[in-house]
Amino acid sequence: MESLVLRKLQPPRFLKGDLEMLTEKYDPPRILHRDKEMEHIAEMVLSSTTQSQPNHLFIYGKSGSGKTAAVNHVIHTVQRLARASRPTVALQANCRNQVSHHALLSQLVEQIEPGRFVPSNTAWRNLYNRLLQAAQKAEANIVIVLDEVNRLTKKKEGFDAIYTLSNLNSELTGSRSMVTLFAISNDLHYGDQLEQSVRSRLKVEKLYFAPYSQPQLADILTDRAKLVFTEEGLEAGIVAYCAARAAQTHGDARHALALLHKAAVIASRDGALQVTMHHVLEARSALEHDIIAEGIQRLTAHEKMLLLAIARLSQHQTSNTLITTGRVLEGYRAVCQQMGSEPLTLQSVNRLLTDIASQGFIASDVRSLGRGRGRTTIVNLTVPVESTIKILQDDHLFHLGG
Ligand SMILES: Nc1ncnc2c1ncn2[C@@H]1O[C@H](COP(=O)(O)OP(=O)(O)OP(=O)(O)O)[C@@H](O)[C@H]1O
Ligand SMILES: [Mg+2]
Repeated sequence: MESLVLRKLQPPRFLKGDLEMLTEKYDPPRILHRDKEMEHIAEMVLSSTTQSQPNHLFIYGKSGSGKTAAVNHVIHTVQRLARASRPTVALQANCRNQVSHHALLSQLVEQIEPGRFVPSNTAWRNLYNRLLQAAQKAEANIVIVLDEVNRLTKKKEGFDAIYTLSNLNSELTGSRSMVTLFAISNDLHYGDQLEQSVRSRLKVEKLYFAPYSQPQLADILTDRAKLVFTEEGLEAGIVAYCAARAAQTHGDARHALALLHKAAVIASRDGALQVTMHHVLEARSALEHDIIAEGIQRLTAHEKMLLLAIARLSQHQTSNTLITTGRVLEGYRAVCQQMGSEPLTLQSVNRLLTDIASQGFIASDVRSLGRGRGRTTIVNLTVPVESTIKILQDDHLFHLGG
């Protein structure tokens, strides 16, 4: 017993740094392969004293392409190097799940006036004036970052916030302060949806973060792994494998790091001396499971019942038993009956099929049944069948047990 406790208290032999350095809590000292993008961002921050330049930038790129990391890195670098000549104040709001641009504005006011309370019923105009006055007084470069701006629950609220904040500069009269606004989005068409009048007034400038390639992901992982693992800590080939997996999921650096992190957690749980491919494969299926579980949680009750029906059909699928929409409908009705729930109409079920396809659970494909026999739609589950059934069976909706 004592030896077990002592062993558990020791950090694993394969680690030389904190495992947290593989998570998003950690601000890496270097951002690789984003020099051009970071130069563009830095130029905007630093040239914001010249009124003629546009002072707002839309930053786009898929999830995990380094947008937040790059913007943070530039801000910290400018703050560190230009502290005396050009003080820089960064106001950052994450828009995920925010309901209104009022809520965003309060977040920004709380940051520019630290320690001052902002009552939730403060009128919008008041918030704007407080922000403007504090910005005026600061005599600084003020960088406002609206991160994940497309995740605001209502699009219009995000557009309103961008419009309002882009106005700040024209009202900062007689002050040395200047505002630069960055709106970060992983919806590549976000800015295109702004009203034409707003777009032309804002002169929407865009910066695109392309997905990382496999070699770029390998560089990013190698750089990070050096901080965390001892030289012998990772079995050869692991970095290349994680980079290849992430390159397949739209070059997502977050995914690559998460895979390595989970593998190290599993290796540590097992008391291993080294992180091996075996740990990485276990981590991969655990992460897959988590991603599917998250997606399933967001489905409605009838979508879950439909998915369960398709998963059950897939479990017994052979090359001769294609899953036609007719069989899906039968299976779905059987699940409804089992649940004592009234099945939806055919039309509604078709709509649900499109919905769960767009969420990445299934793919459908129209096939000809051969001469004179017409065409039918074939459905295929695109997520691992056993995990899907297990997650659905554990869902409180079903309570079917194992
Ligand atoms: N070029 C890079 N060098 C080092 N680390 C990176 C790089 N790009 C991304 N990362 C790391 O990958 C993770 C994801 O990056 P980041 O959060 O910047 O993605 P994002 O583009 O903002 O994604 P999302 O759209 O989902 O918010 C972070 O932990 C970040 O530190
Ligand atoms: Mg981000």
